[in-house]
Amino acid sequence: MSNEMGKILVTGGCGFIGSHTSVLLLKLGYSITIIDSNSNSSPKSIKRITEIASMESIVLENKISFHHGDLLDYKFIENVFDIENSKFNKINYVIHFAGLKSVKESTNYPINYWDTNLVGTINLLKVMQKNECKNLIFSSSATVYSHKEKEFISEKDPLKPSNPYGNSKLAIESFLRDVYESYNENWRIACLRYFNPIGAHPSGLLGEDPCGIPNNIFPLINNVASGQKEFLEIFGDDWNTSDGTCIRDYIHVMDLAMAHIKTMELINSEKPQYLIMNVGTGIGTSVLELIKTFEKVNHLKIPFKITSRREGDFKNVVADNSFSYSLLKWKAELSLEDMCRDGW
Ligand code: UFG
Repeated sequence: MSNEMGKILVTGGCGFIGSHTSVLLLKLGYSITIIDSNSNSSPKSIKRITEIASMESIVLENKISFHHGDLLDYKFIENVFDIENSKFNKINYVIHFAGLKSVKESTNYPINYWDTNLVGTINLLKVMQKNECKNLIFSSSATVYSHKEKEFISEKDPLKPSNPYGNSKLAIESFLRDVYESYNENWRIACLRYFNPIGAHPSGLLGEDPCGIPNNIFPLINNVASGQKEFLEIFGDDWNTSDGTCIRDYIHVMDLAMAHIKTMELINSEKPQYLIMNVGTGIGTSVLELIKTFEKVNHLKIPFKITSRREGDFKNVVADNSFSYSLLKWKAELSLEDMCRDGW
């Protein structure tokens, strides 16, 4: 399977989800090319990816290459395709992770978010089209939903992002649908709407290490556990949930990585299509449950203080994953304990 699928271009392959997916692609025998601007990641990820591969006795010869550059630079993407397609194995699939992803930052810098996320994707698609590479998995987010108070969110639920980051993700989904519908339907495109990815590769060599101060709960818990931060602020314990704290659908990043590969293999085996799919475990966990599990598996204490609700937060965000299960015949396998242990 891996050879006939050609080479896979991973944009943002040094980032949290991109690096974990790259490791798994190599493990499963795929050849990859990573591009990354390293604006919110480190080029050291490449070294870590190859270290893990050698620990796992994966033969890497001609299987991985890296190009440092930005998707806003059209010429750079063109060059990457030219260089890689002159080798024996052409780029046939793109898994597109690259983009800006902070909800809070996006409200302060909307122009930058729209430019990087949307224009970067348009440049990528232009070069893909030119090179007859028409297979794409796009990194979308549950942030596109309107988040009406529902126990489980399905792909058919209303869409209404509440911030520029979410708006840019939804706009890209629409752009990709237009591309699929307009070109004789010969593109294979899947948009994966992630819930809350946490955890890390079990080797401890890769993880989530955002540049600057993190906003997401898991890197913040890690910062408290390592003593970099005195305590965790819990944003409200007066929500209408079992313990008063918000519920999220946390998914192990290795499971999320596997979801990309399963999706790629599925769309490769079917006629061209445009697909939208939730990727979550379908299991809700409260902030307090997450902290307790982290403390239990890592034998640590996470001091916390209850503070007021964070503006724009939602009580409950959990995936209805029945659609992805019916298509992929696969469900996330790793537990909250695994996420907390591997993430720490
Ligand atoms: N939380 C705290 N304290 C913190 C940080 C977070 O209590 O210091 C709580 C939040 O209130 C929330 C939960 O932890 O209940 C998770 O918060 P995150 O910021 O980690 O994640 P969100 O669910 O708010 O947002 C995430 C991604 C977004 C994505 C969204 C999709 O960060 O990019 O899921 O629903 F859009």
